[in-house]
Amino acid sequence: MAKIMEGKGLAEDIRDSVKQKVEMLNGMGIEVGLALMLVGDNPSSKQYMAATLKACKGTGIKPYEYKFPESVSINELLNAVHSINNDERIHGLLVFFPLPRRINSRKIVNSILPEKDVDGLGSIPIGKFAAEESTLQLYSEQYDPAITHHLGFLPCTPFGVIRLLEYHKVEIKGKHAVVIGKSLAVGKPLSLMLLTKEATVTICHKETKNLAEMTRQADILCTAAGKPNLITGDMVKDGAVVVDIGINMLENGKVAGDIDFDSVSQKASLVTPVPGGVGPVTIAMLLENTVKSAKARI
Ligand SMILES: NC(=O)c1ccc[n+]([C@@H]2O[C@H](COP(=O)([O-])OP(=O)(O)OC[C@H]3O[C@@H](n4cnc5c(N)ncnc54)[C@H](OP(=O)(O)O)[C@@H]3O)[C@@H](O)[C@H]2O)c1
Repeated sequence: MAKIMEGKGLAEDIRDSVKQKVEMLNGMGIEVGLALMLVGDNPSSKQYMAATLKACKGTGIKPYEYKFPESVSINELLNAVHSINNDERIHGLLVFFPLPRRINSRKIVNSILPEKDVDGLGSIPIGKFAAEESTLQLYSEQYDPAITHHLGFLPCTPFGVIRLLEYHKVEIKGKHAVVIGKSLAVGKPLSLMLLTKEATVTICHKETKNLAEMTRQADILCTAAGKPNLITGDMVKDGAVVVDIGINMLENGKVAGDIDFDSVSQKASLVTPVPGGVGPVTIAMLLENTVKSAKARI
């Protein structure tokens, strides 16, 4: 039976450290501000926003809410981003996805100043990471906030997965990691991060033939497909570590990940719950990046 890989303990540790840094900055007369941009009323985004607001409150980070109707134009959003870029009170901006289909999301993300792109999804931070110019941040002991300012932040969810694995003492080096999903927000950067940590990485997606054949080879299986019950126990190797990144709103109002928890936990050695696994760590990472951004601007 698998041990549960909770995210709460790590998220609390990160939030405590953020709180201390915010207090230190407050003592210097600097308030730390995070802008949250929400378009429309997607239930998952609204839930994510509510959880982020709560976490901001707990750490002393001041949130600035930018809410727009579904009908908003791209120019209105770009104007809001430009105003946030120029607002000295704000150190980071998180845009909740998905945006309406007619809005070019990449244009919005790339209009955020890299030093305020605390979700690290712009082409500059992603490119710098791919070019191994910002990988140092993956090694916390070598981390230096003074350099982050120039390097760009690492995307919160995949970085949170790496931190969660390390918190639970999972060795990554030399292991076969299988990642399901190749999105720019999760699957692709997570695969690169696992590769940087010297895992052998297989990336799966919708066109992958015989998914089970791939997943059964995984020492570390990370799934970010957004498909409930995609992974069942028979698709998991005995003793594997399983990280469920998926967040799926079920018709009964409950939240589920991508795995069939009961059967997977019979095979895995460690498994993340949904909710309570990767989710709280993602938000904590966002706050950590925000306070790093504020420190870098002193
Ligand atoms: N826990 C957190 O903090 C957190 C943060 C962000 C996202 N999420 C959740 O993580 C999930 C993924 O998010 P995302 O933004 O990466 O979503 P996305 O952009 O929709 O990407 C999903 C990926 O999964 C692949 N996929 C979908 N169905 C598949 C299947 N049946 N077999 C194999 N691959 C499949 C897709 O393949 P193709 O590329 O071939 O279409 C795509 O690469 C969602 O549930 C989201 O809510 C959680």
